[in-house]
Amino acid sequence: MIMDPKQLEQTLVLIKPDALKNSITGFIFSQLSEFHTGARYAAAKIVNVNRFLAEEHYAEHKGKAFYEPLLDYITGAIHYPEQDKWKRRVIAIVYQGPGVLDTVRAIAGPTNPHEAREEKPGCIRALGTVVPIKDANGNIIGHRMDNLVHASATSADAEREIKLWFLPQDIPPLMRAYPTEICSTHYYYKDGRLCETYEPNSLFLLAPGDEAWKTDLDILQDFARNEPAQGRLSTVVAKYLINRNV
Ligand code: RTP
Ligand code: MG
Repeated sequence: MIMDPKQLEQTLVLIKPDALKNSITGFIFSQLSEFHTGARYAAAKIVNVNRFLAEEHYAEHKGKAFYEPLLDYITGAIHYPEQDKWKRRVIAIVYQGPGVLDTVRAIAGPTNPHEAREEKPGCIRALGTVVPIKDANGNIIGHRMDNLVHASATSADAEREIKLWFLPQDIPPLMRAYPTEICSTHYYYKDGRLCETYEPNSLFLLAPGDEAWKTDLDILQDFARNEPAQGRLSTVVAKYLINRNV
C-alpha cells in the first residue's frame, strides 16, 4: 500500500541535555506517545552535539546575546562539567504523521518556561528554567532558556533540521520524506575544504554507492566544481561529523 503523502509530515524533536540530566526523558516520551499524538517514530539517535552541529542547528540566532550560551547549552557544557563530558548528550527524534509539527509544538509549549508555566501549565517546557546571561561587568544582557525540548517550527525548518541531524540510512526507507541519491565519488573534508581524494588528516564523508540526501549531494558537487552552491558546505559536513572524534 502506498502511504498517503500527509502521513509524511515530519518534525525534528530534540530532548535536550537538561532533560537528560534531570531524567525526565520518560515523561517526555509519554507526552509524545504514539497513542496520544497519532504520530509515528521514524528515527532516533543519541548525539554528543559538537560545536559544528550546534552552530548549524542554531545558525539563525548567530550574533544574538544568547547565541554563545545557547551553543553551550545544546552541546551539554552547561549541564555536564568537563569531568562529566562523556555524559553530554541529546536524543534526536524524527516524528511523523498528519499535523505532527503543530501537535508537538503544542505539547512542548511556549519557548520561555516562565510563559509556559503561565500560559500552558502541564506542557513540557513548563518544567524548564530561565537563566540570566551577564556581561563581564555583571549586567544582565539576556536570558538563556533551558526548555528541555526542541520541536521544528515549520515544514521548511523540519526539512533543514532532519537533513542536518539524520542520514537517510538512519530512517527506514518507507519513512523517508525527502529525496535521496546514490553518491558517485569519494568526498573528504580537511581544514574547511572539500577534497575528492584522501589527504592525511582529512575526514572521510562519502564513498561511491553511499545513499545521501539529494540536496546534500548537489551542494557537494557544486563545491567540488567550484560552482555557486545552494547551501553551505558546513551544513552538509556537520551531519557526517556526528558522533565522530573531531
Ligand atoms: P526550539 O527551536 O528550541 O524548539 O525553540 P523555539 O522554536 O520555541 O524558539 P527559537 O526562537 O527557535 O529559539 C531556539 C532556542 O533559543 C533559545 N532562545 N532564547 N533569550 C531569548 O530570547 C531566546 N530566544 C530563544 C531557547 O532555548 C530556544 O529553545
Ligand atoms: Mg525554533
